Amino acid sequence: MKRFLFTPLHPPVTAPIYSGADIIDKLATPRFLKQFSAVCAVVDERVFELYSQSILKHMLAGVPVYLFPRGERHKSLARLQRLLSWLWENEADRESLVLGIGGGVVTDITGFVASCYMRGVAYVAVPTTLLAQIDAAIGGKNAVNLHNTKNVVGSFHAPRMVICDSRLLSSLRTVQIKQGLVEAIKVFAASDRRLFAKHVPNLQFLIGRQDLNHLIADAINAKLAIVNADPYEKGLRRVLNFGHTTGHAVEAVAGWSHGKSIAFGMLIALTLSQLYSSLSQRDFNQMWSAIIAIYDHFDAAALDAELLWEKIKHDKKRSGKQINFVLLPRCGTHQIVPISCAQFKRSLAETRERISK
Ligand SMILES: NC(=O)c1ccc[n+]([C@@H]2O[C@H](COP(=O)([O-])OP(=O)(O)OC[C@H]3O[C@@H](n4cnc5c(N)ncnc54)[C@H](O)[C@@H]3O)[C@@H](O)[C@H]2O)c1
Repeated sequence: MKRFLFTPLHPPVTAPIYSGADIIDKLATPRFLKQFSAVCAVVDERVFELYSQSILKHMLAGVPVYLFPRGERHKSLARLQRLLSWLWENEADRESLVLGIGGGVVTDITGFVASCYMRGVAYVAVPTTLLAQIDAAIGGKNAVNLHNTKNVVGSFHAPRMVICDSRLLSSLRTVQIKQGLVEAIKVFAASDRRLFAKHVPNLQFLIGRQDLNHLIADAINAKLAIVNADPYEKGLRRVLNFGHTTGHAVEAVAGWSHGKSIAFGMLIALTLSQLYSSLSQRDFNQMWSAIIAIYDHFDAAALDAELLWEKIKHDKKRSGKQINFVLLPRCGTHQIVPISCAQFKRSLAETRERISK
């Protein structure tokens, strides 16, 4: 028998992330863009409508643009194939750069396209929603959905650079700001008690979009502390699923918005943490109130526990009796706990009761 060793050559990759106001033209300079054989941009159609003649004008000058239609349903394999063909038609080669400009849908699928076109080309993300600036475009995870299940096909591909320009957020609706805030609360509650305490008192101002720059910088830092320690999601990074196990099921089964579904998933996880971990009443109340400050109404009576559990099991590809949930023994720390169907149903019943009070 002979033994050979394949030693992947890649050095550790570093991907700078910039946040601030008015930073696009300072970073995507003609000099930076000129180092690539071609530049191709995938741009959310609403973002193009809003900013192609202003904030994005210089970056997009002379660049072929693929106008990406709105909606999660376009984060699909069919659309991926169209994007790959479009790059080919535009003669993109291994030295080319792909720009992904839009919300998490665009940054997820464009990052994936960049990771597989010619086995990987350079990618720059310009996230344009709060959720994408603090979460989706941070950490190198890309994907498309399959069979009504999120992010089944994807890759890890570090972008060359991420540009989070807060001027792009001025056109977001309040509902979109709330979706981002929920993810910020998630990462703070699950990993950084100090940042949770710092931002939660300001939630009403943040919903009114004052002072988002500080929140964005802190949320990026909190997420990076996790993904830098576990870039390929072997362990610690699972903490970012806090609230998402139930949240994704609610989104698919009941059709609630993504933000509200995740917020409700976090309420369930808090109830579970009190029942089956050591979460104190004080921490529970603080985190519960923060979520309720963002979404104060949930039509939880209409949720079918059996259907939700089936969806959760299906998404986790589990036929067994228990599913791992991210619970919080205290604000800022997490624990993975196997939960049974009966325990899940109990937490749903208790959460419903608390909401209705
Ligand atoms: N890769 C990851 O680690 C990760 C993490 C979290 C979420 N995600 C993914 O992110 C996606 C959700 O992202 P999203 O919430 O940004 O949704 P989205 O990309 O669908 O954008 C939401 C809406 O906002 C519009 N929009 C975008 N920027 C705008 C702007 N500046 N002004 C006005 N309207 C604007 C879009 O046209 C769209 O209609 C999901 O697919 C989710 O799976 C990925």
